[in-house]
Amino acid sequence: MSIPIKDAAELEAMREAGRVAATVLKEAAEWVKVGVTTREIDEYAASRIRHYGARSAFLGYEVSGRKYPCNICISMNEEVVHGLAGKRKVVPTDIVSLDVGVRVDGFIGDNARTVMMGECSQTTEKLVEVTREALYDGISRALPGNRVADISAAVQNRVEAHGYSVVREFVGHGVGRQVHEEPQIPNFVSGGNTPELRPGMTLAIEPMVNAGVAKVKFLPDGWTVVTRDGQPSAHWEHTIAVTEGEPEILTCPGPSPSA
Ligand code: MF3
Ligand code: CO
Repeated sequence: MSIPIKDAAELEAMREAGRVAATVLKEAAEWVKVGVTTREIDEYAASRIRHYGARSAFLGYEVSGRKYPCNICISMNEEVVHGLAGKRKVVPTDIVSLDVGVRVDGFIGDNARTVMMGECSQTTEKLVEVTREALYDGISRALPGNRVADISAAVQNRVEAHGYSVVREFVGHGVGRQVHEEPQIPNFVSGGNTPELRPGMTLAIEPMVNAGVAKVKFLPDGWTVVTRDGQPSAHWEHTIAVTEGEPEILTCPGPSPSA
């Protein structure tokens, strides 16, 4: 049980994977509109992933012996994470969480955001905004010498200050050659020692925030996680690198410098 430290070459590969993941996420977020099905969103994202010569890191990814069947995760409204693409259509006032993970030359970039379809209620808008702020609060604490719990506390404090709740059953994670590496990065503090952050660690920080109660359950499809009370949930995620100084966000969209 150890946390991989990436060397300069590995970090460069992580930058490229992060760039592709972020570019595909941005393109998919801009492409989503009222009337499209989640299947169409998934297919669009798949075509963009292919365009960049990458592979979905989620398609076929094994969790408890079952393989994830879609290219990206699309989770709407009361869906928290791991929503499956299908016939559900996007309608006005929906919020749509898109989670894109890609593999490029053996390294993974993982990121997510929640997009709003037109005029959402003020409460929903606030939920999405606070979740995004919580992500950046968490990132700002990813400093060498800090601990994982410093990230967790920053996320949790922001969320709970607004009366929202963080999901307990799913957490952020180390990311690199694998989608899920050590350490786990909960969005809540539970006491006890957590690992110290060191330069070269690459982490996926990902607050999953519910407007109502923290409790979640699975839909009968065995993948889709929904809130127990049916209230909406938002999800924002970046892959970052711990450096000697400020954290570096690896999931930034943009052209590849080698292109
Ligand atoms: N972004 C998700 C995570 O960080 C990955 C989805 S897992 C899959 O845990 F099973 F849906 F692929
Ligand atoms: Co992730």
